[in-house]
Amino acid sequence: MSRQLFVTTALPYANGKFHIGHIMEYIQADIWVRFQRMQGNQVNFVGADDAHGAPIMIAAEKAGVTPQQFVANIAAGRKEYLDGFHISFDNWSSTDSPENHELARQIYRDLKANDLIDVKTIEQFFDPEKNMFLPDRYIKGTCPKCGTKDQYGDNCENCGAVYAPTDLINPYSALSGATPVLKNSEHFFFKLSDPRCVEFLQEWTQDGKLVPEVANKVKEWFSVRTNPDGSKSEGLGDWDISRDAPYFGIEIPDAPGKYFYVWLDAPVGYLASLKNLLEKRGESFEAYMAQPRLEQHHFIGKDIVTFHTLFWPAMLKFSGRKTPDKIHVHGFLTVNNGEKMSKSRGTGLDPLKYLSLGMNPEWLRYYLAAKLNAKNEDIAFNADDFMARVNSDLIGKYINIASRAAKFVSTLGNGKLNFNYGEDVPEIFEQSISEDVPSVVAYEGKVAFHAEINAMTPPNISNELSSEVRSLLEAREYSKAVRTIMDLTDQVNKYFDASAPWTLAKLGNTMRALAVASHCIELFRQLTIAMAPILPATASAAQKFLNCTDLSWNSLAAPLKSGHSLNGYEHLMQRVTPEQLDALFEAPASPEPERLIPAGEALAPLITIDDFAKIDLRIAKIVNCEPVEGSVKLLRLTLDVGEGKTRNVFSGIASAYKPEDLIGKHTVMVANLAPRKMKFGISEGMVLAASHGDEKAQSGIYVLEPSPGALPGMRVK
Ligand code: 2FM
Ligand code: ZN
Repeated sequence: MSRQLFVTTALPYANGKFHIGHIMEYIQADIWVRFQRMQGNQVNFVGADDAHGAPIMIAAEKAGVTPQQFVANIAAGRKEYLDGFHISFDNWSSTDSPENHELARQIYRDLKANDLIDVKTIEQFFDPEKNMFLPDRYIKGTCPKCGTKDQYGDNCENCGAVYAPTDLINPYSALSGATPVLKNSEHFFFKLSDPRCVEFLQEWTQDGKLVPEVANKVKEWFSVRTNPDGSKSEGLGDWDISRDAPYFGIEIPDAPGKYFYVWLDAPVGYLASLKNLLEKRGESFEAYMAQPRLEQHHFIGKDIVTFHTLFWPAMLKFSGRKTPDKIHVHGFLTVNNGEKMSKSRGTGLDPLKYLSLGMNPEWLRYYLAAKLNAKNEDIAFNADDFMARVNSDLIGKYINIASRAAKFVSTLGNGKLNFNYGEDVPEIFEQSISEDVPSVVAYEGKVAFHAEINAMTPPNISNELSSEVRSLLEAREYSKAVRTIMDLTDQVNKYFDASAPWTLAKLGNTMRALAVASHCIELFRQLTIAMAPILPATASAAQKFLNCTDLSWNSLAAPLKSGHSLNGYEHLMQRVTPEQLDALFEAPASPEPERLIPAGEALAPLITIDDFAKIDLRIAKIVNCEPVEGSVKLLRLTLDVGEGKTRNVFSGIASAYKPEDLIGKHTVMVANLAPRKMKFGISEGMVLAASHGDEKAQSGIYVLEPSPGALPGMRVK
């Protein structure tokens, strides 16, 4: 009976393009999914954009568009990558979909009805300069568990700990750099510390759904432990699932102004994308989920294990839903070019650049498969290794079988296979070796004489392919599967070399030469079946050449017969060149305009000259400058703009200038900005200054100064 599989990859945040890490995860999952489909199993493989959360809201605001528009723009770019790397998702949706809003709210209601939601007033960080509660990602500080600096407010990228922002040591606002203040706010909690949850999760995480390396790591979260700072952690704590407006997310039922924290509705997006798919097909989501044999598989990175092994299964379990069957955790991909690579090569591997250079996506799929295993270990991309594996193994061993054997079938068999060896190689062969057949068969240091050729039988590889390779692919032990497949290609190539069909043909024993080539074509067919999940496009080109209708796993046991016609052989794969790899890692001479992000901040949308003319910029002389009592950030400037009176302007430059350093200087101001009432008085304009868009860079603030000679009141155009 076929299996029913529901498979997902982690939903990417919709605030950026895919990077090579995303592509690696999709390829890993896609290989598994294609493998399952080839077994005749029923798979629904879905993804979606993770649309919600403060970073996306803030990025949209910066770009001058609504969060919905922002997310739609990002989503529009996804297809190029997914099609480009042959990822076979059945559906791609968004966590801002109606299905997700509805499902997330329903799950919440069910948890609440199960008495697993608590409301508590908590103290939360508030940015006194930005006037808003700070989202976790905008509070940074030192990890309370491992002491790593500059970690986000929700979890540590170094040790994986999940904590509240208030647990951070030396917190700061990443939006303004200010030290945040604590303010009260009512928050909603999922009571993960409830004994029902703890008991369930202790069992669920240790019963084989995770590989042992991951299960052992997860075990630590249940126990009381001593942190590096000496404090004690008490095992599972309740999980804060709400955020205050302004927030781009899903409103919590019966709680105006409160939204689900993005990590509450993100995994619900798996179900929502599936529901969206099934409903498009006219199928029932509820009926699908109710199938007792349905398996739910999530492929994720090692950085988000906690969310998927604690919060998500508990949310599902205690809202009365099906829980996942397996969480497949991978490590990170590091791009490491090794010492031999040119110094001009960068370290990043841009997936779109890879495709635009005409590099074959199946090279990358093969290379990653050759490195990936079921553990959550990091793997390294190395350009030299990549070239060697693609050219020597994939092409030199596997593709080579078809290209060598095809010639013989075409010339000797007129394109038709014939597996019959016919008569043994005649005696004459022995003499011919020394006469007009100089380069006979040097194989493993010895010459294959006719007796050996007569004894040569094709290797039987189908058993290993159908049992060992099959279980390795099922277990996501891709590197072992690839190694086994390559060992089998070695056996096939040895058979071809030792049987020496070119010699046989020269000797006039065309029947045997054709039989050898035909056997190699059949073995190539079997290898292609095993390679198909990894190399789908190559496999379908090979299938066309082989002229066979079935490439399912079962067809391993249904060999081609004598008389079967092949189609003409066309090159199945080109070699990768060093020039391509050089180009891939070369730093771009001039960055492409759409990707240009000067000084950490994306360019604002285009404006016309008329838009610019609306801004009246004037030279201003700073006639006085003083600190502002009660503000660490502001300076009060008194400016002469040639109007016969001075203007009062507050400017957030106190961190960069002492008042006395500015007095007497000329600068540029926006002179027609509507006056703004501030806590300390009215500000009548704005002084221009440069700063890095990314506060992490901490590279200071620079007030603009005109060249000498510019006078107060002159217009800047
Ligand atoms: O870490 C991330 O990139 C998240 N956007 C993953 C979410 S996975 C799932 F829960 F949606
Ligand atoms: Zn840490």
